[in-house]
Amino acid sequence: MGQPTPARKDRDWWRSAVIYQVYVRSFADGDGDGTGDLAGVRTRLPYLAELGVDALWFTPWYLSPLKDGGYDVADYRTIDPAFGTLAEAEKLIAEARELGIRTIVDIVPNHVSDQHPWFRAALAAGPGSPERELFHFRRGRGARGELPPNDWPSQFAGSTEPVWTRLPDGDWYLHLFTPEQPDLNWAHPAVRQEHEDILRFWFERGVAGVRIDSAALLAKDPDLPDLAAHPRPHPFVDRDELHDVYRSWRRVADEYDGVFVGEVWLPDPGRFARYLRPDELHTAFNFSFLSCPWDAARLREAIDTTLAEHAPVGAPATWVLCNHDVTRTVTRYGREDTAFDFATKAFGTPADPVLGTRRARAAALLSLALPGAVYLYQGEELGLPEAEIPAGRIQDPMYLRSRGTDPGRDGCRVPLPWAAGLPYAGFGSRKEPWLPQPPDWPMYAVDRQQRDPHSMLTLYRRAVALRPEFGEGPLTWLPAPEGVLAFSRADGVLCVVNLAPTPAGLPAHSRLLLGSGPLDESGRLPQDTAAWLRA
Ligand code: NOJ
Repeated sequence: MGQPTPARKDRDWWRSAVIYQVYVRSFADGDGDGTGDLAGVRTRLPYLAELGVDALWFTPWYLSPLKDGGYDVADYRTIDPAFGTLAEAEKLIAEARELGIRTIVDIVPNHVSDQHPWFRAALAAGPGSPERELFHFRRGRGARGELPPNDWPSQFAGSTEPVWTRLPDGDWYLHLFTPEQPDLNWAHPAVRQEHEDILRFWFERGVAGVRIDSAALLAKDPDLPDLAAHPRPHPFVDRDELHDVYRSWRRVADEYDGVFVGEVWLPDPGRFARYLRPDELHTAFNFSFLSCPWDAARLREAIDTTLAEHAPVGAPATWVLCNHDVTRTVTRYGREDTAFDFATKAFGTPADPVLGTRRARAAALLSLALPGAVYLYQGEELGLPEAEIPAGRIQDPMYLRSRGTDPGRDGCRVPLPWAAGLPYAGFGSRKEPWLPQPPDWPMYAVDRQQRDPHSMLTLYRRAVALRPEFGEGPLTWLPAPEGVLAFSRADGVLCVVNLAPTPAGLPAHSRLLLGSGPLDESGRLPQDTAAWLRA
């Protein structure tokens, strides 16, 4: 195949990119009001350039009542005033591009905010109106229509709340998430047209890609059958009609060289890969890797399955250790159960931060050595742990809708620490930020870590800078003792990760490029440590 030409490499940037997820509300506060914003991101672009990332994925920054952290969009063409203005977003996209950093925006096609003009019009227009056809309005069951139209469960784990809300006029409307997030009717042509216009709106503004929220949930069986009746295909997960939607999205993206990354949580690798066929989405998040426990055999299996499912469709894999919905890696790996599962999240689960950090460092080198694109979630590069937010301060609907049994996701959304000696660890706020920072937050601050050669930040910077050494080649497993993962890539660079209790001898190499921790006195790799070697 030979080396790709520079032009092709540039066009295919997303196949091997390092993409940094910015949760705007908690990244940096530019105006001091307690909430992160675009002004804050703009001042921190040099930091992101120094980290060496290729692109930024911004969680929704549009006008929103923030009932689900912005995943309740009232207007896709306006930036929420808490975050800034459209002109500022345009500047941010351009300034980032000047630093060689591309922008990915987040589109939430399954639902809108109940404050979206379409939903307000539907409420005003009343039962049977064409305005209501853009959503899923139904009469209820029971003698007086007092029962919800079907038995579908909430898509927020732990929630026992219904997915239907009844209006005073007797109609019920469907919302797989909160009542403030009514589901759109994707069988309606106006819904399709509007989303293609939204894609163009953002591609015209220079964004390079779009993350698609809840990408496998949009299409619904028009009969909305009960799940208890075991309807096949599933009435709202992974329906075949969706592929036609994404094929037409792809045609729009191709006009701009734009790329997609889908949030596709599906247990079946074959069904997952269908979204990645050459005329559909470019990439999708790899949740099997994110959910995998810290166990060599299980990780190897997750890696092999991932590569095998992507190969036939020619799509690159993505490697993700955490995001704004899941437990922070350092905490998860420091627990007895190191897998991630929404169903088992609980308050007060003990975690060993030293052990978790050691493993998270090794996991960083593992994921950055794999072929494909890597996603980093803000604060991962600082080794931030999951915070326990006092119950009275939690804002996440996942907590509120589980009636307080699920801790929710705010613990991974705490405002970042930038400077140890400043108020609120330099987040930029003049008053208490929207979520409280734990007392030890200054310890993780960027200014401290960048002076420390052994910090998590220094490790990430070095790893991102060295990652191109692995080239574009495929992965080949090398013989290794039980509990050790060892592989090479085409350019003769090796990655070895030891998860076993006994130190592991390193394969023959000319140079140690990077280690997640020191080797022992005999030059062996200790437990929960990773090394990059030149063969
Ligand atoms: C997935 C998003 O990542 C999550 O934060 C959100 O709550 C749901 N989709 C609903 O939009």
